[in-house]
Amino acid sequence: MPRSGTGRSGGRCAHVMITLPPLPYDLNALAPTISARTLEFHHGKHHAAYVKKTNELAKARGLDGARLEEIVRKAAEAEDQALFNQAAQAWNHAFFWESMAPAGQAGAPEGTLLDMIARSFGDVERFKAAFVQEGGAHFGSGWIWLLLDGAGALKLATTHDAGNPLMSAQTFPLFTCDLWEHAYYLDHQNDRPGFLKAWLDGVCNWQFATRQLTLAREGKNGWRHPAPSMALAD
Ligand SMILES: [Fe+2]
Repeated sequence: MPRSGTGRSGGRCAHVMITLPPLPYDLNALAPTISARTLEFHHGKHHAAYVKKTNELAKARGLDGARLEEIVRKAAEAEDQALFNQAAQAWNHAFFWESMAPAGQAGAPEGTLLDMIARSFGDVERFKAAFVQEGGAHFGSGWIWLLLDGAGALKLATTHDAGNPLMSAQTFPLFTCDLWEHAYYLDHQNDRPGFLKAWLDGVCNWQFATRQLTLAREGKNGWRHPAPSMALAD
């Protein structure tokens, strides 16, 4: 459903568009786990392309002005794989940037989160081993998620390609890591388990996970993609 902001402005049509969120840290902030060169291409090329194509397809489907979460859900409901792939990848990457923090600022599991990891996985080391094992064993491209399930337990899940947990009211993501080769190949070549271990130990944003868990337990929305904004487009 088109929303306001689709009128004429200065001879060009103004649209309400999904924007590419800026990285929440410098390009070199995640090195050596993720180099500045990887981050520059990942954010500036891959993620930017998903955002651009989402806007093109959403406009063609009459979804100009909708929030990204709504576009993802509507694409899934309509079995519109082309739009779903682009929109979900746009959302997943924005959530992925929030799932990381510069080395030394990433925190550690504490309090309720630590207790829940212990209940669900045994302890933090066993959780880390499970994360590396599941993410390493995932066949092909996708994502690995730490989720709070409907029963109040933590669990790991992987999704293929652009898949994400937005369609399930029973799962609430605390963080995600990108399993596509473009996420790690320049820095770790084919060693995905090595990348996942370095990711957990170095840049996984436990403070973000804690915030997500708190919001989930309070029955509130978790992180949402920045609202679409006015932009001039031909
Ligand atoms: Fe990616």
